[in-house]
Amino acid sequence: MERTLEAVKADIIRLLHKAASDRNSPMHTPVIATADADARIMVLRAFDERDWTLRFHTDARSPKSGVIGEEGQVGVLFYDRDEKVQIRCRGTGRIESASQRAQAAWESSDAYARRCYLGAAPGEESDRPSSGLPEWAEGERPTEEQLAPARANFAVLMVTLASVDWYHLSNDGHRRAVFENGKGRWLTP
Ligand SMILES: Cc1cc2nc3c(=O)[nH]c(=O)nc-3n(C[C@H](O)[C@H](O)[C@H](O)COP(=O)(O)O)c2cc1C
Repeated sequence: MERTLEAVKADIIRLLHKAASDRNSPMHTPVIATADADARIMVLRAFDERDWTLRFHTDARSPKSGVIGEEGQVGVLFYDRDEKVQIRCRGTGRIESASQRAQAAWESSDAYARRCYLGAAPGEESDRPSSGLPEWAEGERPTEEQLAPARANFAVLMVTLASVDWYHLSNDGHRRAVFENGKGRWLTP
């Protein structure tokens, strides 16, 4: 039986929850595109189905943080080969470093994950191969006290999705639907 738009919407919600919570989901590491025609992989940390918002963690000093700023256009591209589904999103991104949400995300992150924010800013030139971390922090689990200066470099990227394009591959005919402001319609694949 042919699926309905409501069933597609439920499928998107299921896949994005799985993407955020299951590190083995291929959708856990989508491609994030910015308005400067650059793109990179990021780990999806959370999906809020109430307002279709995604949360990522990043360095406030990174080039992408500069491009997105308080309001920037962001594309998010997911693909799960086994599910045979591509989810292609457009939304508005914002970088938050000082918000309560950023603080909560910082506090819930593991010390090893937070260690990344102790080092040099992403994209700095180095005269040798380098992690960017201070030497004492290499291979070490830093203490809370040692991690304190890293907090200022940590930010969350919140992306509120304006359009979600679901594309399902099938031998019986591909299917495609797009959702904007919660309203769905069918498109030809
Ligand atoms: C599997 C994987 C996961 C990554 N996850 C993140 C992430 O969650 N946040 C992040 O800022 N960068 C992440 N990166 C690094 C980015 O892809 C990117 O190289 C870096 O953030 C610098 O991006 P920018 O120069 O566009 O700011 C990840 C890279 C890989 C390969």
